[in-house]
Amino acid sequence: MPFPQTRLRRLRATRAVRGLVRETRLDAGDFVYPMFVAHGIDRREPIVAMPGVDRLSIAHAVAETGDAQQLGIPAVLLFGLPASKDEEGSGAWDDEGVIQLATRAIKEAHPELLVVTDLCLCEYTSHGHCGVVRPDGSVDNDATLELLARTAVSQARAGADVIAPSDMMDGRVGAIRAALDEEDHVETPILAYSAKFASAFYGPFREAADSAPAFGDRRSYQMDPANGNEAVREAQLDAEEGADILMVKPALPYLDLIRRVKETTAMPLAAYNVSGEYAMLKAAAAAGYLDERSAVLETLTSIRRAGADIVITYHAKDAAQWLR
Ligand code: PBG
Repeated sequence: MPFPQTRLRRLRATRAVRGLVRETRLDAGDFVYPMFVAHGIDRREPIVAMPGVDRLSIAHAVAETGDAQQLGIPAVLLFGLPASKDEEGSGAWDDEGVIQLATRAIKEAHPELLVVTDLCLCEYTSHGHCGVVRPDGSVDNDATLELLARTAVSQARAGADVIAPSDMMDGRVGAIRAALDEEDHVETPILAYSAKFASAFYGPFREAADSAPAFGDRRSYQMDPANGNEAVREAQLDAEEGADILMVKPALPYLDLIRRVKETTAMPLAAYNVSGEYAMLKAAAAAGYLDERSAVLETLTSIRRAGADIVITYHAKDAAQWLR
């Protein structure tokens, strides 16, 4: 029945009725808080393009994960900033590497908090690429798989609850699953960065992690922002290779793909509200162009409405506070 019998405004009249018919709810229990853990003692360095996010030495990271847990956030995602980098990225699978030490320290202090470890070589390689670079500058897919598998095992051994490969090599989920299983980490889940696009929105992150490629770009392994069908194929392949949770990244420019991946795979799905998305809102809010709290909550709600079960976001602590 059309207007005047039907009036959708009836269910918008009061806060109570709006709450009753609300389709999507935000909950701190769906957030993952990403953190940058650096080598060194007593370090806390602001990241210029990401106000409110710092590079933290391990003791500070342990304290901050405690704050996140207090706010009802169940998981953190760790990125390691090693003391030195080399051609191969060997800091990634060093059992005494920064991410391994941080994982042990956090799990010891907060055993219930889930530690998700980002698995990639770009923070550890001197050239900043996510894999083994051949003399001609191209990235060697199959040679990289072995290094990723080694890193996954080292992270699991350190106590990581979830392993999250972000490199975009073909076949990495299968290779990591096999390596974990062989080392008796059969119960460690894989959260795969399945549809990860070659995006301009990683700019602040690369400054934070000092991981911008020294030459070229990541377009030969990360996805073309124009491709949606291919994102679905990436997600299906990761599911077949044994991923437990899939991810679409970035979030806001790819809400359509969050929906499509959810509908085609029916898998648990994460979306990564990345550094550039965070920087945009923080900059606009600082300039007084929009209200930070409502813009952030609207953004996170839209990511959940699109179909993400899990939202990885630098806003997690602020949003959790506002949702209290
Ligand atoms: C590592 C990695 C990146 C991000 C997460 N893991 C950077 C990249 O691929 O260049 C970006 C996260 C963000 O921008 O918040 N490969």
